[in-house]
Amino acid sequence: MTLSHAADTALPVETIRSRFPALGRQYEGHGVAYFDGPGGTQVPREVVDAMADYLLHHNANTHWHFPTSLETDQLLSESRAALADLLNASPAEIAFGNNMTTIAFHVSRALGRGWGTGDEVVITELDHHANVAPWQALAKERGVTLRAVRCDPATGQLDWDDFERAVTPRTRLVAIGAASNALGTINDVARATALAHGAGALAFVDAVHYAPHQLVDVRALGCDLLACSAYKFYGPHVGVLYGREDLLASLDVPKLVPAPDTAPERLETGTQNHEGIVGAAAAVNFLASLATRPGLTRRQALTAAFDGLHARGQALITRLYTGLAAIDGVTVYGPPPSAPRTPTVAFVVADRGSDEVARELVSRGLFLSNGDFYATTIVERLGHGADGVVRAGCACYTTGEEVERLVAAVGEIAA
Ligand SMILES: Cc1ncc(COP(=O)(O)O)c(C=O)c1O
Repeated sequence: MTLSHAADTALPVETIRSRFPALGRQYEGHGVAYFDGPGGTQVPREVVDAMADYLLHHNANTHWHFPTSLETDQLLSESRAALADLLNASPAEIAFGNNMTTIAFHVSRALGRGWGTGDEVVITELDHHANVAPWQALAKERGVTLRAVRCDPATGQLDWDDFERAVTPRTRLVAIGAASNALGTINDVARATALAHGAGALAFVDAVHYAPHQLVDVRALGCDLLACSAYKFYGPHVGVLYGREDLLASLDVPKLVPAPDTAPERLETGTQNHEGIVGAAAAVNFLASLATRPGLTRRQALTAAFDGLHARGQALITRLYTGLAAIDGVTVYGPPPSAPRTPTVAFVVADRGSDEVARELVSRGLFLSNGDFYATTIVERLGHGADGVVRAGCACYTTGEEVERLVAAVGEIAA
């Protein structure tokens, strides 16, 4: 497969692959090809080394006078700076948590304390339910009205006329995913945040599926709050929240009285997952290290690395999408490769359940997930609520040969 020149801004895929021990795994005589990145990516050795080094040599609780505690404070503060570079935020705007879902519930509890009947939250049919259920809970408990923006299942695109109708002076928040973990659609988040702000509402962005594929820029997106998860971008299981500084300082979050009142720590309940946070920062540094040009700031290196990975991902998804779509009996969902999308594709094989297809692929060393991936509404609207779809996601370590293997295997299963 030929790659565009822009791919040269990231290291060659074989160099990247050499940093992931998991890629050496064999299954039933086949080299394993991991297409399960949208569910969680593999982890490079340097991320695990950073976590082990923290636990073995610097492990302590925070804010005491002895070296390991001071080192922990320092490492956590460096980690905030790394995640701020990833999101184009300032370190004071970064808080950590268990995962995106827990963060979304936490933020929704805080926001919802001030809302009630007559207040509205706009959600979308395309979203993962981690960005639906927290707002549904407010509807149930506080009488807040939810407005779900329609998604056209045929194109995988949000209906923007419906979006414009849904946002009104009663809207308190627009909750939108930056990219669909089921279909790969990339949404025009800046347009959604502009609509929210035009109505005097806040914008909460779920960037979990977007962050591994597009360099997040909270300033360009114009969002007030954004959450993502490091385990989707080559890190450990830790959630990350960006919040506008004034908002993080004022949100009425549940917390213990003696916990700090200052942002961003006031968002973080109890002792944090220090090794996970250190690992999340190591994942950011790993991504920055994929840039081919030396001497760049971390944000510049991330920009170059993501440009290269994006060009490579485009070539992979183009082949994967067109290859699968050309197979008789295979239906591919989501936007075509020419539309803004991530290298994630959902498909079904006629007369074969998604479970059965996934199992047959696994027996060939092709690790793909199946189901609705909690993108429950859109998978239902596609008519696969009962059985789900099969999902293939490319990551920074995916090769053209792996894509060819997958297309050929689906062809055999469909025959
Ligand atoms: C788009 C999207 N949003 C939210 C989530 C939930 O993230 P977490 O597992 O960090 O709670 C996922 C997880 O798969 C996801 O893909």
